[in-house]
Amino acid sequence: MADKGKIRVVNVVGARPNFVKIAPIIESMKRSAVLDPVLLHTGQHYDYSMSESFFRELQIPEPDAFLNVGSGSQAAQVAAIMEKFDEYTDRDKPGAILVVGDVNSTMACSLVAVKKGIRIVHVEAGIRSRDHSMPEEINRLVTDAIADILLPPSADAVENLRTEGIPGHRIFLVGNVMIDTLMKFQPQISASNVLDRLSLRHGKYAVLTLHRPSNVDAYESLFAILEALGEIQKKLPVVFPVHPRTFHRISSLGLEAKVRGMSGLIMTDPLGYFDFSRLVRDAFFVMTDSGGIQEETTVYGVPCITIRENTERPVTVEKGTNELAGVSTVRILELVHKAMDGTWKKGSVPALWDGQTAGRITQVLEKEL
Ligand code: UD1
Repeated sequence: MADKGKIRVVNVVGARPNFVKIAPIIESMKRSAVLDPVLLHTGQHYDYSMSESFFRELQIPEPDAFLNVGSGSQAAQVAAIMEKFDEYTDRDKPGAILVVGDVNSTMACSLVAVKKGIRIVHVEAGIRSRDHSMPEEINRLVTDAIADILLPPSADAVENLRTEGIPGHRIFLVGNVMIDTLMKFQPQISASNVLDRLSLRHGKYAVLTLHRPSNVDAYESLFAILEALGEIQKKLPVVFPVHPRTFHRISSLGLEAKVRGMSGLIMTDPLGYFDFSRLVRDAFFVMTDSGGIQEETTVYGVPCITIRENTERPVTVEKGTNELAGVSTVRILELVHKAMDGTWKKGSVPALWDGQTAGRITQVLEKEL
């Protein structure tokens, strides 16, 4: 039931990185005298390790609504989310929706809301890779074009929105809400025994994550990355929590024997937040194609080698500890040598990545909704 007199805000989550962002937002909004937050899970991610474990660890309340959409092609998934969210908003009639990040659920629910005159709040607005082959870039462009309140994480993102013609009175620089979660849960992250479980020593291993379609769906790119990995794991242990998409591709592209032959490679199922963050925090260096991990390594001051041609988070390269390797065996290995030489840049943490972003988001919404 709607809380009378308060503004009902439907907070939308669908995929793993959304859970890390929504946890502090819901917690903060629940304390508001003005806002009535509810939580809706589209079901884009549904495995325990990709979804439920995050709800438990990050103390996210049970979703008030679950759309159960599951996997599918880009079009099928977006269509399923739109149809079910449309029905939901017929029943629930929210005052506003809040969407985070750039996953299919973010764009699909925004498209439904805008056509029904429901106000849209976008957290992590304005970041751009300028690479239209990434589904996430399309999701960002569409969502920002129709959102009413845009909450960018960094000054470069504000600039992008202004260049695209978004009026300044709708843009509020609030900082990076993922970092709220990272800071709040440091005691639990420190208490993780993942290093012991995997027989690793602080600073004596590397971490790898891969899941971008452009890296794992095509044989050539996946092969180029695994070639580099073959060399790296001879020098130090590499932990590789494998995303379901990547797991399927390694086997369907016939590369299973190649990875199984690497004795320094430790492949695991997707890990929970505390274990994974502990692994990243204490790693010698990290190799990834994730967006969020580029930000988390910058905050931890850990060298990050990004296996992509571009990044929508340039601040992590300009200020932080991130470097782009492209999808090149040679370039990845060059950067690995640089990290192992100990000559990596030190980096600094961007403004407002301070653990207080959720409070700033709530303040903006109390005033603007
Ligand atoms: C999605 C997001 C991406 C985000 C990533 C984090 C989009 C366009 N992409 O990509 O931005 O970085 O989540 O993980 O929204 N699968 C499972 N179990 C699950 C979920 C997925 O086995 O719980 C498998 C399915 O085979 C599915 C594949 O993983 O087809 C990909 O899932 P999908 O939600 O389409 O995209 P992600 O690659 O996870």
